[in-house]
Amino acid sequence: MASLTRDLTAAAGAAFSAMGLEERWGAVRRSDKPELADFQCNGAMGAAKAAGKNPREIAGAVAEALKAYPLVLSAEVAGPGFINIRVSDMALSGRATDVLADTLAGAEPAPDPQVTVIDFGGPNVAKPMHVGHLRSAVIGDTLQRLLRFLGDRVTSDTHLGDWGLQMGHLVTELYDEQPDLIYFDANYSGPYPEESPVTIEDLGRLYPAASNKAKEDPARNQRSQTAVAELQAGRPGYRALLKHFIDVSVEALKVDYAFLNVSFDLWKGESDVDHLIPGLIEQFRTAGLAEESDGALIVHVAKESDKKEMPPVMLLNSRGGTGYHTTDLATIEDRMTTMHPAPERMLYVVDQRQALHFEQVFRAAELVGLIDEGHLEHIGFGTVNGPDGKPFKTREGGVLRLADLNAMAFEEADRKLGAANLPEDMGSEERANVARLVAVAALRFADLQNTRTTNYVFDLDRFTSFEGKTGPYLMYAAVRIKSLLRRAEADGNAPGEIAVGHDAERALVLALDGFGAALLGAREKRMPHILCEHVYGLSQAFSAFYGALPIANESDAALRASRLGLASAVLHQLEAGLQILGIDVPERM
Ligand code: ARG
Repeated sequence: MASLTRDLTAAAGAAFSAMGLEERWGAVRRSDKPELADFQCNGAMGAAKAAGKNPREIAGAVAEALKAYPLVLSAEVAGPGFINIRVSDMALSGRATDVLADTLAGAEPAPDPQVTVIDFGGPNVAKPMHVGHLRSAVIGDTLQRLLRFLGDRVTSDTHLGDWGLQMGHLVTELYDEQPDLIYFDANYSGPYPEESPVTIEDLGRLYPAASNKAKEDPARNQRSQTAVAELQAGRPGYRALLKHFIDVSVEALKVDYAFLNVSFDLWKGESDVDHLIPGLIEQFRTAGLAEESDGALIVHVAKESDKKEMPPVMLLNSRGGTGYHTTDLATIEDRMTTMHPAPERMLYVVDQRQALHFEQVFRAAELVGLIDEGHLEHIGFGTVNGPDGKPFKTREGGVLRLADLNAMAFEEADRKLGAANLPEDMGSEERANVARLVAVAALRFADLQNTRTTNYVFDLDRFTSFEGKTGPYLMYAAVRIKSLLRRAEADGNAPGEIAVGHDAERALVLALDGFGAALLGAREKRMPHILCEHVYGLSQAFSAFYGALPIANESDAALRASRLGLASAVLHQLEAGLQILGIDVPERM
């Protein structure tokens, strides 16, 4: 589906071409001054300079040519050669009609759809998720929805952290509690009992216990390290335990993610690529890229042009164990060889503070030829801070678990709903569902509306407010349109042919017209806030329209039907946009 911007750009481009000037001068954009024009084209100045001609003359000729299009109401030259364009009511009416009928609600598919892996979430088995994991989940899930909407072929992967020292802590601590478990038998080789020896609560207890002891006691830490080494070397009992730990964790993680409307195609983890590591190391050796250094095996990835220090990649540490670099490299190999078609792009939605790690891994992967250069992208994000400007902690100073955060948001949303005017016949089940949707809208929008790379302050009271630039405000805006349309329908007033005329209607359709550009921009920059801006702008344009003109109460039947049609188009696009942000709109609230 096209957009008015695109149609005008094509028309102006043709006019420049007809004069023997480059088509690109015809680029048209929304006007900075809506009181003067809907759109503007500033290309005449550049074109004139390049061709040694008079800019006002060129602008005049382009404006004349534009007037021949039914789409154009007026085209006027201003200042040194700006072209101010107003579009016709007919063009706007047609545009709104198209948006309503379009499955993409007026957007256009990506011109270059790609097979893309999005690696996000990144929770660690046994360690509780924290607010940083919230950001990865929300941004990653939104990108997956956005890219799919635009036609990319996306596979999402949580990439569980299940291969580090924390697994050694769990194994040893469990041994201290239950040394008789068959998994600890040195000769264990099965059977693998279906029932887990631990619950999620056990894991939540075992890990911090061991990790605290290890901090005080080097010998205790050493035991955990030995256990990880044995696990990584493939000791069957430990591998079986690992599988239980993962299963139990994943089950709990799925609950937290589902609350936030976050989903994954793959629940693979670091431990899943263990079998690829020997071959991977061989590839680095054969390519002459691996180097022994103090008993470790490293790969130099620094370049002449580096401005900051670029430490080598560590393939094997001095104990022969593998770490974060190696598992990430082996995961790239795994994806490239097991996925069909092979991914053209991998996006890693991970805290900005891991930028160096990804730079190192990406360079090593490219050096050894796992993937072509430039196809791995780190989609970094800032931290979630407390009111003190430091990374957000609980009142007791610990990390806030995602599950607790979800519960807090739910409670606050429920409290806010208590003050709202809910339908009288709303039962407790429906109310709880609405409270969850409000909580999710609050958390997700508050996160996504910021430029992803910046930090933001966690403020649940503000996030859950029904006023201001918040998820609940937008959700409520959509609910109100739904109920407006439902009431009109009940009164026998159906949406009809859209005929735009009033200024507030024109402004609303111009807002609708920006959806496609916002989505493509958000995709290109991997920046969901661009979509947030659009959705918020649209809801504001609707609210101006709603305030300025009668809709269901309009006495003229054709106008009434038209305004209801316009409201339907807005709802259609608003819901599509919110859906990409992971915000569901209830039928009523
Ligand atoms: N588990 C890691 C963490 O909690 C994040 C994993 C990110 N993904 C990756 N492929 N390294 O910090």
